[in-house]
Amino acid sequence: MTFAPIRSERLELRLLTEADRDWLVSVHAQADVGRFIPAGPWTEDIAEEEFAKRISRQGFDTEQGAVSLVATYDGTPVADIVSWFTDREHRVAEIGWAGDPEHAGQGFVTEAAAALLDHLFNDERMHRVAARIDPRNEPSMRVAERLGMQLEGHLRANDWMRGEWCDTLVYGMLASDRNV
Ligand SMILES: CC(C)(COP(=O)(O)OP(=O)(O)OC[C@H]1O[C@@H](n2cnc3c(N)ncnc32)[C@H](O)[C@@H]1OP(=O)(O)O)[C@@H](O)C(=O)NCCC(=O)NCCS
Repeated sequence: MTFAPIRSERLELRLLTEADRDWLVSVHAQADVGRFIPAGPWTEDIAEEEFAKRISRQGFDTEQGAVSLVATYDGTPVADIVSWFTDREHRVAEIGWAGDPEHAGQGFVTEAAAALLDHLFNDERMHRVAARIDPRNEPSMRVAERLGMQLEGHLRANDWMRGEWCDTLVYGMLASDRNV
C-alpha cells in the first residue's frame, strides 16, 4: 500500500524520495542539527548509510514498519519527520523530528509532528507513541510539550554518544490520552 500524503494547515507531509537527498544531507550535516541526534552530524559516510536507511522506510505495512517523511511548505522542504514501530505486534511507535534551520521558529516542526501523530493514532491505530530527547535539547522538549506529549521519565547516563554518557527524557502519548 502506498502512503498517502498528509496535509495540515500550512504543510504537506510526504514520503522521502531520492530527490530529497541533497536537502536532507545538507540539514543533517550541520553541527547544530546533529548535536543531539545519535548518528549526527552526518559525515559523507554516515549520510550514505543514514539516507539508505531512511529511503527504505516506506510505510508501517512494509517490512521496515516505518515512515520517513518530508514536510513541505509551498513545495519547499522544511522538516524531516520519522516514525517507526518499536513493537509492531502491539502498535507501539517512536517519533523523531529535525527542522531545516533556515525555516526554524515558525512552528513547522510542531505542525508536522502534530499531523503525523493524528495519522498514527487515527489511521495507524497506534497504542502509544514515544519521543526520546536529550534534556539539553530544550527546543525539542518544547516541541514535545506543544504536541501534548507527557514527560514520563528521565533516564540517566543511558546513551553513550560522541564520547560521553548522555541522559534521555522519554515523552509519551497514548491513544487513551486523546480521548479525554
Ligand atoms: C528541535 C527542533 C526541531 C525545534 O525547532 P523549532 O523551529 O523550534 O520548532 P518549530 O518549527 O515547531 O517552531 C517552534 C517555534 O516557533 C515559534 N512559532 C512561531 N510561529 C509559530 C506558529 N505559527 N505555530 C507554532 N509555533 C510558532 C514557537 O513559539 C517556537 O519557538 P520557541 O520554542 O522558542 O517558543 C530544532 O531545534 C532542530 O531541528 N534541532 C536539531 C535536530 C534535533 O535535535 N531534533 C530532535 C532530536 S530529539
